[in-house]
Amino acid sequence: MAESGDVSRLRVGLVLILCFLKWVHAVTDPNDFEVLMDFKKGLENPELLRWPEEGDDDPCGPPLWPHVFCSDGRVTQIQVQNMSLAGSLPENFNQLTKLYNLGLQKNNFTGKLPTFRGLSELQYAFLDFNHFDTIPADFFDGLTSIRVLSLDYNPLNHTAGWSFPAALEGSSQLTNLSISSCNLVGPLPDFLGKLPLLNSLRLSYNQLAGEIPANFGQSSMTVLWLNNQEGGGLSGTLDVVGEMTSLTELWLQGNSFTGTIPDSIGGLVLLKKLNLNGNKLAGVIPQGLADLELDDLDLNNNHFMGPIPKFKASKVSYASNSFCQSKPGLSCAEQVNVLLDFVADLNYPVSIASEWSGNDPCGVPWPGLNCDANSKVSVINLPRRNLTVWRP
Ligand SMILES: *[C@@H]1O[C@H](CO)[C@@H](O)[C@H](O)[C@H]1NC(C)=O
Ligand SMILES: *[C@@H]1O[C@H](CO)[C@@H](O)[C@H](O)[C@H]1NC(C)=O
Ligand SMILES: *[C@@H]1O[C@H](CO)[C@@H](O)[C@H](O)[C@H]1NC(C)=O
Ligand SMILES: *[C@@H]1O[C@H](CO)[C@@H](O)[C@H](O)[C@H]1NC(C)=O
Ligand SMILES: *[C@@H]1O[C@H](CO)[C@@H](O)[C@H](O)[C@H]1NC(C)=O
Repeated sequence: MAESGDVSRLRVGLVLILCFLKWVHAVTDPNDFEVLMDFKKGLENPELLRWPEEGDDDPCGPPLWPHVFCSDGRVTQIQVQNMSLAGSLPENFNQLTKLYNLGLQKNNFTGKLPTFRGLSELQYAFLDFNHFDTIPADFFDGLTSIRVLSLDYNPLNHTAGWSFPAALEGSSQLTNLSISSCNLVGPLPDFLGKLPLLNSLRLSYNQLAGEIPANFGQSSMTVLWLNNQEGGGLSGTLDVVGEMTSLTELWLQGNSFTGTIPDSIGGLVLLKKLNLNGNKLAGVIPQGLADLELDDLDLNNNHFMGPIPKFKASKVSYASNSFCQSKPGLSCAEQVNVLLDFVADLNYPVSIASEWSGNDPCGVPWPGLNCDANSKVSVINLPRRNLTVWRP
């Protein structure tokens, strides 16, 4: 009898110790637990998570549930990238207020993104390569610690599109922002150029329009992808990118940029990849660009004129332009040089730059020119083309 009394006292003691340990180790916050349960309920294939069925209400463990990380009983990370998860996220997701690293990328999440408003400790959020179709207007409010945010390749607000989120102005820790192929419409906001730590900005395959804001010139971004905007895309000149001396990658292909490549491009000595394919750029290639030691330079499908310089780039393409020669290093005919000076004074209007191509203005006379019997240009006649003499 004495023995059995000892055993039961021992039992009680053990239970007390276990309770105490559990209390010291901080049981998972019940509200965080509820959000995780709602997360699981929203999935069509929750079994892939390998979370315990009934009876274990302690994802923070020990042992920790798979894909969950905690600190002091609060959920700090959910990592489920590339697991083929299908379903939607719960509305109350932003109650996980201690979340700092979220990896949901490369799954089949669908439906509306819940707001992330007030997730003030969130530093990394990977939501890319899913099928989220709606983003609430207050999604970005109060993301004061966010460093890396990736939403690429989600069909967000497909019908009306959505404007660049103004609330990110308050996210001064932001280093990497990626919102490619997400149906962004309208202009780029000024504040992007002023985010002090912004290093990589990738906004390819949207419907952005307007010019690159002037204060991008003060940014220390290294990667800027603004390529392939639907519906005409970005416009204006490239003058500002000539000031972005930290750039290593600049992708501007598939837009409507006009004017010439600024001479200042020669100052972008860190640049490795430059893609200007498919714009309305014109003029002569500046020697400073030819001298840059690029890995990859794409000038295809513009209205560049004059000679093709000898490029120092390892890989370069320049098809479908209005160069005078088809090979690098060859100069233009004397007459062509005179005509080039003439169109330079008009700032290379696209209507002329697109038509005056090759090294023989008189073979089949270029539009607007008449030639005499000696194949010399005798008349320049360009009525109703809205030409004005241009002084920089
Ligand atoms: C995703 O997972 C599959 C196998 O489950 C693997 O083959 C593939 O490489 C992974 N992709 C990425 C991008 O991690
Ligand atoms: C996502 O769903 C599509 C069908 O809707 C399917 O073809 C694809 O394999 C799924 N991908 C993953 C990662 O589960
Ligand atoms: C996206 O669309 C939804 C539903 O139409 C709308 O409520 C929301 O404000 C839109 N998001 C943004 C960021 O404009
Ligand atoms: C952030 O951008 C830089 C520059 O492109 C890149 O090297 C780095 O891997 C990116 N980090 C993340 C987490 O995507
Ligand atoms: C010339 O400019 C006027 C007014 O800016 C415009 O309406 C017209 O379409 C332009 N014509 C051409 C040929 O560009």
